[in-house]
Amino acid sequence: MTFQNTLEFAQQLDAADQLSKYRQGFHFPQVNGRDVIYFTGNSLGLQPKRTQAYVDEVMKDWRELAVEGHFYAEKPWWDYHERLAKGLAKVVGARPKEVSVMNTLTVNLHLLMASFYRPTAKRFKIICEEKAFPSDQYMLQSQARFHGWDPKEAIIEVKKRDGEHAWRTEDIVAKINEVGDELALVLMGGVNYYNGQVLDMQAITAAGKAAGAFVGWDLAHAVGNVKLQLHDWGADFAAWCSYKYMNSGPGNASGIFVHERHLDKEDIPRFEGWWGNKKETRFLMKPEFDPIASADAWQLSNPPILSLAPYLASLELFDEVGMDALIEKQRIIVAYLEFILHEIDKQVDSTFEIITPAERGCQLSVFLHGEGRALFDYLMKQGVITDWREPNVIRLAPAPFYCSYEDMYRFGQILKQGILNK
Ligand SMILES: Cc1ncc(COP(=O)(O)O)c(C=O)c1O
Repeated sequence: MTFQNTLEFAQQLDAADQLSKYRQGFHFPQVNGRDVIYFTGNSLGLQPKRTQAYVDEVMKDWRELAVEGHFYAEKPWWDYHERLAKGLAKVVGARPKEVSVMNTLTVNLHLLMASFYRPTAKRFKIICEEKAFPSDQYMLQSQARFHGWDPKEAIIEVKKRDGEHAWRTEDIVAKINEVGDELALVLMGGVNYYNGQVLDMQAITAAGKAAGAFVGWDLAHAVGNVKLQLHDWGADFAAWCSYKYMNSGPGNASGIFVHERHLDKEDIPRFEGWWGNKKETRFLMKPEFDPIASADAWQLSNPPILSLAPYLASLELFDEVGMDALIEKQRIIVAYLEFILHEIDKQVDSTFEIITPAERGCQLSVFLHGEGRALFDYLMKQGVITDWREPNVIRLAPAPFYCSYEDMYRFGQILKQGILNK
C-alpha cells in the first residue's frame, strides 16, 4: 500500500478499518478538551467501557450476598478464574488447562522458577538477554543466590553485537549450544520492552529444549500483541501481566502457562496452597494436597475477584475480535506510523532512528537525535501520551484496539511543530 501523509488519507484508512468501531469502547483521557493520542498501551492499556459493569457485578454480589457470593453470585467466585481460561488460552496459543490467572507477574515468575529452576552441580546456568527488564534481572539474581550460586557465574546474558540495536537469533542459539549441558534454564522476554523486538520464541525454545534445559518466557510485552503458540512451540512455562495490551487495569492479575507435559505430575516441585487443590476435595480440609490436573495447581490463594472481573471483560473483547484481526491492523498502523516518522524526518533537521527491528509487534522505539526531554514534554502537553527513556528514546505503541490512523497523522503534525518551534 502506498501511504500518504495527509489527514484525508488517514481518514480513508480509518473508514476502511474493520476494528475502528472498537475505539468508542474505550475511555480516553482528555487533554485540551479532546481525546489523547495514546501510545502507551505497552505500559498501561486504556480502560474498556464494558469493564465497569463486570466490576459492578462483583460489588453488587458482595453487597447483597456477602459470603454466599462464593457459590451463588451471578458468576460464583469459587470458580470465577475458570471463566478466563478459554479466552486466555486462545490469546497465548495454549490449551485451557495449560493456563491460569493468579498473583502478579514477578511473583509468578518466581513461583514458576521454583518448579523449573532446579540447578544441580553440573547444570545450573540461566540464559537471558542482556539488560532484561530490571524485575527479571533481580528475580534471576535472587533465584541464583537462593540456590547458593553466584549470579555472575550462573547468569549468562546474550549480548547484541557492537553497533546493533537488536539481538540475532543465531547468537542466542549459539550461546545456548555453547553453554550446553551446563544450561538449566532459558528465560527471556518474548518481546523486549526497550527496543520492541519480537524474539524468535519458537527457534529459541527448540534450541533450549535440545540442550536439555527448561525454557520459560516473560510475555509482559507479548501477550495481546503478537501471535503466540506456546503449546506447539513446546515452552515449559510462561507468565505475563494483564495491564498492558490486555487492558485489564493497573497492577492487575498475571497469567501463567505450564505445558501439559508437566501437568498432573505428583513429583513436580512446586510451592502449594489450598486453591491448587482439586475443587471436589478442597473444602474437605484434608491435610494432603491433591493437585488440580491443570495449571491451576500453581494457584496458592483464593483469587482476587475484583481483579479478575476487568480481566474477564477484556478477554471477552479479545475473543470477539481475535488476535489475527488485531495483528492485521497492527501491521498496517505500525507501518503507517513508521512512514509518518520518515516523512516528518525529511521536513525537520533532527533525525529519527527507529531501533525496533523488522521482527516487531506494536511498538516502535525511536531515537530522537538532536532532541531532548523538552520535545517529550511538548508532546505530552499537546495530548500525545508516550514515554521517554534516557538518553532520548521515545516508545510509541499504537494499540490496534483503540488507536486510529488519524491519530498517527496528527501525531506527525504535533511532532513537527514541537521540533520547529524549539
Ligand atoms: C518485561 C516485564 N517484566 C516484568 C515486569 C514486572 O511486572 P510486575 O510489576 O507486574 O511484576 C514488567 C512490568 O512492566 C515488564 O515489562
